[in-house]
Amino acid sequence: GKIFVKDKLNRPLRDLRISVIDRCNFRCQYCMPAEIYGPDFAFLPKSELLSYEEIERVAKIFVELGVEKIRLTGGEPLLRKDLPYLVELLSQIDQLKDIGLTTNGVLLPKYARDLKKAGLKRVNVSLDSLKDELFGQINGRNVGVGPVLKGIKAAQEAGLGVKINMVVKKGLNDTEIIPMAEYCKENGLQLRYIEYMDVGSSNGWKMDDVVTKKEIYTRLSEHYDLEPVDPDYFGEVAKRYRYKGTNIDVGFITSVSESFCSSCTRSRLSADGKIYTCLFNGNGHDIRDFMRTGVSDQQIADRICEIWGGRKDRYSDERTAETVANRKKIEMSYIGG
Ligand code: GTP
Ligand code: 5AD
Ligand code: SF4
Ligand code: SF4
Repeated sequence: GKIFVKDKLNRPLRDLRISVIDRCNFRCQYCMPAEIYGPDFAFLPKSELLSYEEIERVAKIFVELGVEKIRLTGGEPLLRKDLPYLVELLSQIDQLKDIGLTTNGVLLPKYARDLKKAGLKRVNVSLDSLKDELFGQINGRNVGVGPVLKGIKAAQEAGLGVKINMVVKKGLNDTEIIPMAEYCKENGLQLRYIEYMDVGSSNGWKMDDVVTKKEIYTRLSEHYDLEPVDPDYFGEVAKRYRYKGTNIDVGFITSVSESFCSSCTRSRLSADGKIYTCLFNGNGHDIRDFMRTGVSDQQIADRICEIWGGRKDRYSDERTAETVANRKKIEMSYIGG
């Protein structure tokens, strides 16, 4: 039977975000700046990664403990070999309601159909601009918008649910707020504007770089009639609105201006098998080496309960200039957002 664990702030464990690889084919300025993630950067060697069978085993145990949603992330998850095979393993887990993938979209033309066939339900595709030059600058690899739009199309054609994630950074891509809304509305895509966050310590985040939900909402409502939409489930990250008279939503992820820690039910598993209890808490708990000593599922479950039971994280609620500068944080590309 199922056991439900709660953390110190009474939050249940409902979601598991699994990073399958720490590499990426992009170098987004706000995530993996090329100056830092250069040719000599030490990514995890393959031997350090959890195998698909190990991921499956841990995921099953998490589901026993209350997880209903799994999201695969990276780096860029589609760079991991045979990812559809992992999806197939995970989709056979009883009582798991949802499997999603967060990707930059470039490899979706190649994998969308196989992912869908393997049981994937939805993809969230990152896209920060519709202008080739600006997008190429942001992704740090001079990749134009075309390959991502092709990926989005491929996912839609394969029957996957598709949402678009746009990180908005002041002075960089705030001019793209309305064009992105227009594109997504035309193409039946849910767009989510993401407030630029102080994750990791390599992106040089400043409060002044953030464009808040309030500012974006004000601009949007000059162009469109919007009405609020109720959350789909407890702890949904995005606050959503609907373009009146349509069934198309637009959302905001307000990690900076209106934090949502009090309903945060997310745990994270890194590619090298560490459990993290918050995107901003750099203290990972090893599960890989523990698992490799030949322990039982029950022992792993007990370990996870202990970790979740001790959780007090509410970083975005507590964010101050001092925490931004002084916390030991995790890089986004390592933990997958
Ligand atoms: P859905 O299942 O579609 O709701 O996905 P999601 O929005 O939870 O995941 P996605 O990977 O698309 O992330 C969108 C943005 O939300 C990224 O910038 C994430 O870093 C951010 N995000 C997701 N979960 C959390 C969280 O627990 N805390 C904070 N601060 N940001 C989060
Ligand atoms: N702040 C907010 N969102 C970010 N992402 C990457 N870095 C940041 C950041 N510093 C987003 C990506 C992707 C998601 C997983 O996280 O664009 O859509
Ligand atoms: Fe890669 Fe996504 Fe990070 Fe961009 S935001 S560098 S696509 S992992
Ligand atoms: Fe959850 Fe930490 Fe994000 Fe707050 S800052 S919502 S506790 S992951």
